[in-house]
Order: sequence, then C-alpha cells, then structure tokens
Amino acid sequence: MNKFQNLIHKKNKSKIVCLTAYSKNIASILDKHCDIILVGDSLGSVLYNFKSTRDVSLDMMIAHAKSVRMGIKNSLMIVDMPFNTYRNCTEALQNAKKIISTTKCDAVKLEGGIKIISIIRHLIKNKIHVQGHLGLLPQSEKGKFRVKGKKIFEKIKILNDAKLLEKAGVFSIVLECVETSLAKKISQELKIPTIGIGASSHCDGQVLVTDDLIGLNQINAKFVKKYANITKQINSAIIRFKNEVKNKKFPSKKNSY
Ligand code: KIV
Repeated sequence: MNKFQNLIHKKNKSKIVCLTAYSKNIASILDKHCDIILVGDSLGSVLYNFKSTRDVSLDMMIAHAKSVRMGIKNSLMIVDMPFNTYRNCTEALQNAKKIISTTKCDAVKLEGGIKIISIIRHLIKNKIHVQGHLGLLPQSEKGKFRVKGKKIFEKIKILNDAKLLEKAGVFSIVLECVETSLAKKISQELKIPTIGIGASSHCDGQVLVTDDLIGLNQINAKFVKKYANITKQINSAIIRFKNEVKNKKFPSKKNSY
C-alpha cells in the first residue's frame, strides 16, 4: 500500500491527524504524531501579517516547504498551491511540478470545486497527487469569513463539488468551516477521507494551524482549541535570559571558552 492508499484506508477506522508547519523545527516535532503535515498558505497571515492568503507567492511557499521537508521523515507532506498559480491547466501543471520537484512534497492542495475541476483532472492525469479544499475558501473570500453550507443551495453545491472532486481522483478533501450536518453527509457519502477545520467531529480527520493551537498566533476563532500557551513560555524564558545578562550571570564559566 502506498502513502495515499494507506491514508484512504484509515477512513472509518482511525481518525486522521493533520497540522500545519512552516519550518523544519516545528515539522520535526509534528512528524512524530501527524499523518499529514500541511504547508498551508495560512503562513501569509500567521507569519507575514497579510490580510489575505492571496498575497502569498509561489516562491514563499517553496521556501517554507523546503525547510519543512527537512523535518519530515514519515508524515505525508502537502503544500498549498497559492492564489493565481493554477488559473489554467498549463499554469497549474507547471507550478505543481515546480513545487513537487523543488520541495519533494508528496502532494499539492487546491481550493475549489466545479470551477477548477478540469485543472484538477489535468493534474491528476499527469500523476500529481491532489488534495481538495471546499467550504470556506480563503483565496476566493472577499467579505467576512463565515460558516458554509447553512443555506440549502450552498449545501447542494458543496456536496456536488465534493463528489466531483472524488470522481476526479483527489485522495482527500479539506472541509473548512462547513456546517455540521453537511460535513457529516459528505464524510458518509465519500470513500475518500474528509479533513475538517471548523467542520465538526464527523470528518474523517482534523486539521488546525499549529501556531493557533499552541498559542503562538493570537486568534480567537470558535473552531480553534488552544492546547498550550507557548507565548507565555517563550516570554518567561526571554525574561530570565534578559535578567541574567543584566545581572552578569550569563554567560557563566560553563558557557565560556
Ligand atoms: O492554509 C492552511 O493552513 C489551510 C488549512 C487551514 C486547512 O489551508
């Protein structure tokens, strides 16, 4: 069984664990615990303070993904294709190949359903492994972010998109901010795993932005649970260092040559 079949095999057996990483050190910690490590274009807002993921470039994704690659031995590594890098089949294939050849990642993730289905089909036909992304699509979102699939027309569209993506050959789909009953229906009707973020426990796996869950990125979204307060821990380490420098306790003889 290859990595992708192995992941699909987990459906209805074992929940899939996915987190984001933007650099080697975090990736090497996650690698011991995650099925999937995603180099998400969320790095635009988390690391660069961009208002939108639309400002993230291909070069930025490649630079961070190269660093992440060095920290991964086991997990499946997926890299987001940033905005305006998959506007047509030729552009998408050229950029996907560039991401995979330069970063050695396993797969790419693209946002959208029917609108980009011919592009996704083209990538898969050319042996690129693709993860889908439905529901809230940050690269297309103009207004305030909101839950998707509450309205009946949206429910039907997202469900149809999910079926289209599966038929096209994606190996899994991220469902972002999707209403609970819809996430459940999609997860039940598809054979490939759904990975939820703000999309209920009915998904086959869960993904969060690591910086959010460890309390490094200050975010107050309902779907984020904070499992640590790393900011506080970094702060107290820095205060101790500062005090020891001021009081000439650091470096001691032990730290000197
Ligand atoms: O960019 C990202 O980190 C993502 C996840 C939130 C799914 O797409």
